[in-house]
Amino acid sequence: MRSYKIAVIGGDGIGPEIVKEARKCLDAAAEMENFRLEYNEFLMGGAAIDAFGVPLPEMTLNGAKEADAVLFGAIGGSKWDALPRQLRPESGLLALRKGLDVFANFRPVKVYDPLVEASALRPEAVRGVDLLVVRELVGGIYFGEPKGRDGNRAFNTMVYSEWEVERIALAAFKAAQKRRKKLCSVDKANVLEVSQLWRETVRRVGEGFPDVELTNMYVDNAAMQLVTNPRGFDVIVTGNLFGDILSDEASVIGGSIGLLPSSSRGEKGGIFEPIHGSAPDMAGQGTANPLATILSAAMLAESLGETAAAKRIEDAVIGALERGYRTPDIARYGAIKPCTTEEMGEAVRRLICDGNDEH
Ligand code: IPM
Ligand code: MN
Repeated sequence: MRSYKIAVIGGDGIGPEIVKEARKCLDAAAEMENFRLEYNEFLMGGAAIDAFGVPLPEMTLNGAKEADAVLFGAIGGSKWDALPRQLRPESGLLALRKGLDVFANFRPVKVYDPLVEASALRPEAVRGVDLLVVRELVGGIYFGEPKGRDGNRAFNTMVYSEWEVERIALAAFKAAQKRRKKLCSVDKANVLEVSQLWRETVRRVGEGFPDVELTNMYVDNAAMQLVTNPRGFDVIVTGNLFGDILSDEASVIGGSIGLLPSSSRGEKGGIFEPIHGSAPDMAGQGTANPLATILSAAMLAESLGETAAAKRIEDAVIGALERGYRTPDIARYGAIKPCTTEEMGEAVRRLICDGNDEH
C-alpha cells in the first residue's frame, strides 16, 4: 500500500484544533483512496518556546526534513510578544521555511458559489474569482542582510539575487501554464532597484513561455485592482513582503481568511498551512473555521500525487458549504447549519467518505 510520512505541527492558539479536523479529513480521504499516512507530531512556535525555550527545536526541523510533507496550523500569541525577535514564535516558522528551502508559496483564492454573498465585496464583482498568488517565501526583506538596530535607527534590507527571482518566476510560469495562462508580476519598479532586477528577470524567464501572457503591475495598483477587479487576475507572482500583504487582502474576496489554504514547495516535500494566524482569542471556543486547513490538506494530498484524494477533500468542502454549514466567520449568509469547528470538520469528513453529511 502507498504510504507517506507526515510531520504534524499544530502550533499555538487555534492551530491544534484546526489541524485536528484537517487530519481527520486527510485520513478519511486516504482510506477511501487506499493509501496510508503515518503521522509524527512536533512542537514549534510558542508551544516550543514554553517546552524547550526555542521556537524551532532541532527535533522539529529534522522531523520536517524527513517527512514527505508538513501539515501545519498556526503560531504566535501576545504571551510571547515581549521576547526578542529571534525568539518569537514567528521566527520558528521562518526558520522552518528557510530550513526546508520552500521558496514557492502558492496561495489560491477561489470564490465558492455558496459564499458569494458572504464576501465583503459585491457579489457581481467576486462571482467566479479563481486566482493564485505565488509568493517568494525564503528571501526578500524577511531575510535580507544587513538588518538590525543601531541606537535610534532600525533597518532591514530588501534584497533578491537573480537566481532567486529566476526560480520563483519559473514556478509561477509553470503554474500559469496549467491554468488560464496569464501571469501578473507585482513589484515596485518605479522606486526600488530590487524590483527593477525582479522585473527584468521575470521578463527573461518569460521568453521561455511564449504561451503565457506576462504583465507587470506596481504593488499599490495591484492592491487596488485586487478588490476592484479580482476576476482580472489569473496568477500573480511577487516577492515575500508584497505577497504576504496581498494574500491577506485577497482573503476578503472569498468572504473569510478562514477559507484560504497554502502550500510552500521547494525541491522536495512542502509545508501545508492556512494563511491565517493563530487567533489566540478564539482558541478553545470551537469558533475557528477549519476549512483553510482542510483545503491545505487537499493541497498536501495533491503534492503526494494523490490527486483523487485531493479532489475528494475539495469537493467535500464545497458540499458542506452548499449544505449551509457555516462557522461564525461566514455565518452572514446561507447559515442553514451554524456549526462549530468540530462540526464543520465532521461534516466534511462524512462527505469525503460517502457523499452524505448526515449520520
Ligand atoms: C503568513 C504569516 C507569516 C508571514 C508570519 C506568521 C511570519 O503572516 O504566513 O503569511 O509573514 O509570512
Ligand atoms: Mn501573512
